[in-house]
Amino acid sequence: MRDLARRRPALAQLRYAERRDAFAGLTLAERFALIHRTNLWGAAETTSGLGSELAATAALRAGLHDLLGRYGVRRLLDLPCGEFGWMAAVDLNGVDYIGGDIVPDIVTANRARHAAPGVAFRHLDLLEDDLPQADLVLCRDCLVHLSFANIHRALENLRASSARYLLTTTFPELPENGEIEDGDWRPLNLQVAPFCCPPPLEILLENCTEAGGDYRDKALALWRLEDLREPGRL
Ligand SMILES: C[S@@+](CC[C@H](N)C(=O)[O-])C[C@H]1O[C@@H](n2cnc3c(N)ncnc32)[C@H](O)[C@@H]1O
Repeated sequence: MRDLARRRPALAQLRYAERRDAFAGLTLAERFALIHRTNLWGAAETTSGLGSELAATAALRAGLHDLLGRYGVRRLLDLPCGEFGWMAAVDLNGVDYIGGDIVPDIVTANRARHAAPGVAFRHLDLLEDDLPQADLVLCRDCLVHLSFANIHRALENLRASSARYLLTTTFPELPENGEIEDGDWRPLNLQVAPFCCPPPLEILLENCTEAGGDYRDKALALWRLEDLREPGRL
């Protein structure tokens, strides 16, 4: 097994490096619209990237319904929802679902394909929009694409929301976090600087196989948003 302190690049990093110049001068929303339009992240099944394919989400899909039940989650905000591909295969029985994304075309397509009683989609910016009422916000594979400043803005906005819980992507074995441009990718460990979150309530390991297993610690971690309010934390 390779040392997780020296990971090979993920496909999203390689693809962004090849096209970096195309992103100069774009707003945050324009960056993710370009990524969607060009399928920059290079997955066959979805423009949301390799981590959103069905095989990559098997462990997550197996564990999510149970986790939501254990924490009494009746209203779920999935922000960002991306193309809703793997989520369409999750049992959302008993849960009111709202998916949001910063790319209007994604939201429009999701509405046409997946809207149903209890399943709605909204155009939302995680960084600055008022967030709809929810018990838990699922924020999967998003902060890993944002600069530190925008991660802090996202976390501030989440803290200002009515949600009790945040379930979000982290790599618990990563020793330190690196900076990126918005739209690029790198792993993030939310328990080390500059975030220094307390230990999460739960960790749902995703069994990620990308880059020969170099991201095998990829997980969704559950925090009570209230626990992230202390100054200096997140
Ligand atoms: C890698 S995809 C992950 C989607 C989904 N969470 C999943 O697991 O399949 C990242 C998504 O984040 C969206 N996004 C990026 N920044 C955002 C923001 N500030 N607000 C809402 N959505 C955002 C992008 O448009 C893209 O659809």
